Amino acid sequence: MPGICIVGAQWGDEGKGKIVDLLAEQADAIVRFQGGNNAGHTIVRDGEEFKFHLVPSGILYPGKRCIIGNGVVIDPGVLTGEIDALRARGVDTSGLRISANAHLIMPYHLLLDTAGETKLGKLQIGTTRRGIGPAYADKAARLGIRVQDLLDEKILKKKITAAIDPKRLSLRPFNKDPSLDLQSMTEAYLTFGHRLERYIADTARLVWDALDAERLVIFEGAQGALLDIDHGTYPFVTSSNPVAGAACVGAGVGPRDIDEVWGIAKAYVTRVGAGPFPTELDDDLGEEIRRRGGEFGTTTGRARRTGWLDIVALRYAARINGLTSLAITKLDVLSGFDKIMVCTRYRGAEGAEFTDFPYHQSVLHHAQGEYTELDGWAEDIGECRAPNDLPRAARDYLAYIAERVGVPVILVGVGPGREQVIWMQDAPQLAAVARTAPRRAPA
Ligand code: IMP
Repeated sequence: MPGICIVGAQWGDEGKGKIVDLLAEQADAIVRFQGGNNAGHTIVRDGEEFKFHLVPSGILYPGKRCIIGNGVVIDPGVLTGEIDALRARGVDTSGLRISANAHLIMPYHLLLDTAGETKLGKLQIGTTRRGIGPAYADKAARLGIRVQDLLDEKILKKKITAAIDPKRLSLRPFNKDPSLDLQSMTEAYLTFGHRLERYIADTARLVWDALDAERLVIFEGAQGALLDIDHGTYPFVTSSNPVAGAACVGAGVGPRDIDEVWGIAKAYVTRVGAGPFPTELDDDLGEEIRRRGGEFGTTTGRARRTGWLDIVALRYAARINGLTSLAITKLDVLSGFDKIMVCTRYRGAEGAEFTDFPYHQSVLHHAQGEYTELDGWAEDIGECRAPNDLPRAARDYLAYIAERVGVPVILVGVGPGREQVIWMQDAPQLAAVARTAPRRAPA
């Protein structure tokens, strides 16, 4: 069975959680490979709403192996809170496993995230203020605290001291903040360690074992390609790599272990936080899409910026991820528009035309989308379950996307419910995806 990687093909919030939830039913393991509780998704199951920030949504299937990989940064307070909330609702969390090598978000990371944003003033990134950037910075500086450190008081205290020391100056305004007291921080994190110990494991090995036993593994990305720290709209990005390549590093597998990469894109575009957005609709139409699509953040509640679908950016996302399929979500939100605009190229400030996503920040900041006009459809499509149930114009829109991006559309979302999807090709033939190369024996 294959390894399938699910990634966001825009600026996050594409509805990856719902697609992962659908595939998880057939999967044996679901592994998150980057990001932290800056991500968030809502799953509606039998009319009940579940919100997740860290735990893979596959947890709703009893006993399913749900892994938080080494590439994730974990706020243990948020994670234990999520586990408690799930258990209180009768959800079996015994399948959860947490990488011993994942890094932790510490109280000082939260303070530094907010302080950093405040200092940037008008130039701020609009982070989720969950401490993500400072936690990844410490990881790269080799001052991070890892999940395994929670299990040893002496090591934990030593590492926290070493991590705080170089930050003394920036943390000075928070000297009186009780969360920074070394003793109480150590005790609080040791308590998290006790609570999480039963879930801590060598998760890379677990993923390998699942793949080796020919089981289906879903690699679940957070955020999206354009928020990637290397390939996105830097510095208006997150501090990890949401692209598919990062699934290998963040889960501990090799590139040959991923057979398919599905890019999830909304039928339009949204973005939270600051940064360039060439197809942004800063007008009543944008407001209308926001209202219809309920475009407010799961994590911070912020209103999302909205705009028409951007083929230039989507083609770029397809390329840097090596997408094998596209899933287009929230198509129903576009029902009722007379005309649908699709951005097929950018016009730069000096009149130059761009059909490739420009690498230069100044070009991108001033780029304006240029559009092709397609027919809209009036019908409510929430009840459509097969391609031919869709109005002609909606099918044409999907065909246009697939043709311009060069990637087939496999799945379409037509409403928030789990059943509100259309498989565009012969139902999920996951089992039919053959392995192409034999696995290496583990060292
Ligand atoms: P951070 O990841 O909190 O550091 O935020 C950096 C940028 O990424 C900000 O623009 C955030 O709004 C954005 N961001 C982070 N996580 C998500 C997400 O899950 N969906 C959408 N945007 C996100």
